[in-house]
Amino acid sequence: MGLPKFVKLVEMGPRDGLQNEHAVIGSDDKVRYIDLLSETGLQWIEVTSFVSPKAIPQLADAADVFSRIRKAPGVRYPVLVPNMKGYDRAKAAGVDAVAVFTAASETFTKRNINMTIDESLETFRDVVRAAKGDGMWVRGYVSTAFGSPFGDEVTPAMVVDVSMKLMEMGCNELSIGDTIGVGVPSQLDELIPALANEIPLNQLAFHFHDTRGTALANVYAALQHGVHIFDSSAGGLGGCPYAPGATGNVGTEDVIYLLHSMNIETGVDLGKVRAASRFIRGVLDHDLTSKAFQALEAADVRAGAATAAP
Ligand code: HMG
Ligand code: MG
Repeated sequence: MGLPKFVKLVEMGPRDGLQNEHAVIGSDDKVRYIDLLSETGLQWIEVTSFVSPKAIPQLADAADVFSRIRKAPGVRYPVLVPNMKGYDRAKAAGVDAVAVFTAASETFTKRNINMTIDESLETFRDVVRAAKGDGMWVRGYVSTAFGSPFGDEVTPAMVVDVSMKLMEMGCNELSIGDTIGVGVPSQLDELIPALANEIPLNQLAFHFHDTRGTALANVYAALQHGVHIFDSSAGGLGGCPYAPGATGNVGTEDVIYLLHSMNIETGVDLGKVRAASRFIRGVLDHDLTSKAFQALEAADVRAGAATAAP
């Protein structure tokens, strides 16, 4: 199969990224960060979560942030909702795209949302029904699809089973998550054909965390199977506080560098993503992990020094 000509990127920085920062980032900075991302050409930016503020205090300002971001024409701003309470809060804030999230690992699901997988599917059936009734776009996440942080077994058949149940509810798109960054391409060679038997590829996204440095290899492996929707995070921020050891998502800059260099279009301006990353780096207390971001920033510094040299 030839590689796709166009890839849809779903930006995770404001949600997956900022949920995992130990410092609480101010709402003004979040709004500025999202507004910068809105100028990049990204058409999907997951902006926050309407979860329990006790579970994720970092995103307790979801309604405030959502109401204040500039909604750029043509850009969608989905949010995470874990239950009807979150859905009602999101709807009241004016959201028109939501994401529900369960997993293939029973232990992770319990730790993350305090439900069994079956209970989560029951909960999300109501959420998806309400969201579709309100004309919303709905995404479903299947986390820990490549391995559980707690060592319980996850098989491709379990991933396909949960995925099909989410699709049967009416999700518009599924995102299959390597929550703790353990996946390798050979797993995709098994998982993608099994999923593609049941779910059209244009409704299937992959969400790779880069904890062991395999995320870009996994992106390339998935491209070879015709997958053309990927989640990524500006600067490489991200991680789930309920998945011990999980680090950031694959960097948006890294994915764009890879794709554009292979003549695969994304519609996203790499320089403008870097500008958003530069802004959030100034707010955070640590550097960013995206290799392409680091390399391009360093190249600019070298070029600046050469220009300034007598
Ligand atoms: P629980 O404690 O079982 O729920 O938590 P509860 O119904 O008993 O509620 C406890 C308290 O939270 C109550 O307040 C509720 O009102 C309140 P109290 O009476 O104690 O004052 N509450 C809420 N408040 C605001 N909004 C809500 C809400 N729901 C309850 N929506 C619950 C269960 C699901 C709520 C909780 O565990 C939770 O919010 N979990 C979210 C965890 C999370 O956000 N994890 C990160 C996202 S998943 C991820 O990152 C993976 C992903 O990136 C893909 C990948 O990498 O694989 C998507
Ligand atoms: Mg994630």
